[in-house]
Amino acid sequence: MSDNEHSNFEQTTQQKERPVESQKARLRIAVLVSGSGSNLQALIDAIESRELPGVEIALVVSNKANAMGLQRALTHKLPALYLPWGMDRLEVEAKLTPILQLFQIDLIVLAGWMRIFTPGFIAQYPQRIINLHPALLPDDGQGNIFTTSDGSTVPVFRGLHVIKKALDAGIKVTGSTVHYVTPEVDAGPVICREEVAIEEGDTEEALHERVKQVEHRLIVEAVRKITI
Ligand code: GRF
Repeated sequence: MSDNEHSNFEQTTQQKERPVESQKARLRIAVLVSGSGSNLQALIDAIESRELPGVEIALVVSNKANAMGLQRALTHKLPALYLPWGMDRLEVEAKLTPILQLFQIDLIVLAGWMRIFTPGFIAQYPQRIINLHPALLPDDGQGNIFTTSDGSTVPVFRGLHVIKKALDAGIKVTGSTVHYVTPEVDAGPVICREEVAIEEGDTEEALHERVKQVEHRLIVEAVRKITI
């Protein structure tokens, strides 16, 4: 056997001996983005630095062709898909569903995804779609009042522009929440959550930036919780 043949033989033997579990990720995730994708980056970094063993980003989807998130995916050689979001949600979802099946996706992570799925689509993935929301949501996702760690109460902000809503409300604490997606927008059971103090003179940009710093940890923590 030549040296080459020998090393090929060794490689093949090693591949055969490697347990099947270590070859296939236990959790294949699809990350859906609409913008900068800094939370996608946090997941990529965590996987690359082995903080999320067994987790693989099997697909990145963006509804915006020019989303920075798509570039991040391509830079890291991840399968990336631009899925234009037209007027008919059912039509787009009917395209997305077989793609998710093809890529054998176990968990869908909405990381800055700015589109709302139909209840029918969500029903296909019970407790398998999670969303990152830049505000505090109660444990069960329900209700309009949140009690913060210091015992004060703040309104629950759902939907768009929640950083601005928190600033406009003049409250002292906001935060971010990762929750399971249910048909009611931003109202699913919480996986993890962290508070962020609002500082005197905060601008929307400055506060959102601090919330994002927290989110980059939270999204990783949420995926880790789901794997164990
Ligand atoms: C995050 O603040 C997330 O909570 C919200 O959109 C933002 C996405 O940021 N839904 P990025 O695209 O991950 O940088």
